[in-house]
Amino acid sequence: MLKGIIIGVAAAVLAGIAGAYLFLALGLMPANADAKPSFLEKWAARKSLHATLAREAQTGTGPLAVNDESLLAGLRLYAANCAVCHGAADGKASNIALGLFQRPPQLGKHGVEDDPEGEIHWKIKHGIRLTGMPAYTSTLNDNEIWQTTLFLKHMDALSIKAEAAWKAMPSAATPVPAPAKPAKK
Ligand code: HEC
Repeated sequence: MLKGIIIGVAAAVLAGIAGAYLFLALGLMPANADAKPSFLEKWAARKSLHATLAREAQTGTGPLAVNDESLLAGLRLYAANCAVCHGAADGKASNIALGLFQRPPQLGKHGVEDDPEGEIHWKIKHGIRLTGMPAYTSTLNDNEIWQTTLFLKHMDALSIKAEAAWKAMPSAATPVPAPAKPAKK
């Protein structure tokens, strides 16, 4: 009786492993970036991100006060490191953003002002696995990550100076190159 149960359980486990192997080996989980994600893939990615954030992201507000200096520093860091994927104030995506899977949200349109600062900070520091979202843990220091966080958190309620600089930031949308001038004969 017990032997039967053990054999049954072992067979079920092996069948599960073989099934998962075949699922991947037969290419049923697409590796291309231009395929629509399956329900399972979306569910697994969200579930794991939320569980990790709940465990690791700092709660409460960040260490920086909201002022011109920090907001403008955050905006400069955003322009240099993030706008290529997350866009400028016009919310228009670059070709890089349009080709990525997952699609990076255009933060000028769909911002993260409602997210806790600790969560934004965590995402910038550690990146988001299996998406194009990079980890900045080895390229930005903690103060710079908090400055960028502050800018994102207050993007819809910036100081006058920061708002002017944000509106003046060039669009990330990929410009169509002007036609080359015909060579002079
Ligand atoms: C190469 C492209 C790329 C760059 C550069 C990039 N990101 Fe992202 N980012 C992504 C993608 C893709 C996602 C969506 C991930 C997902 O769907 O879970 C994302 C997600 C995010 C999110 C979560 C958005 C939400 O709605 O929950 C935040 C916040 C974020 N990025 C901030 C930044 C900041 C700040 C920088 C610069 C320091 C940056 N990203 C640079 C691609 C990028």
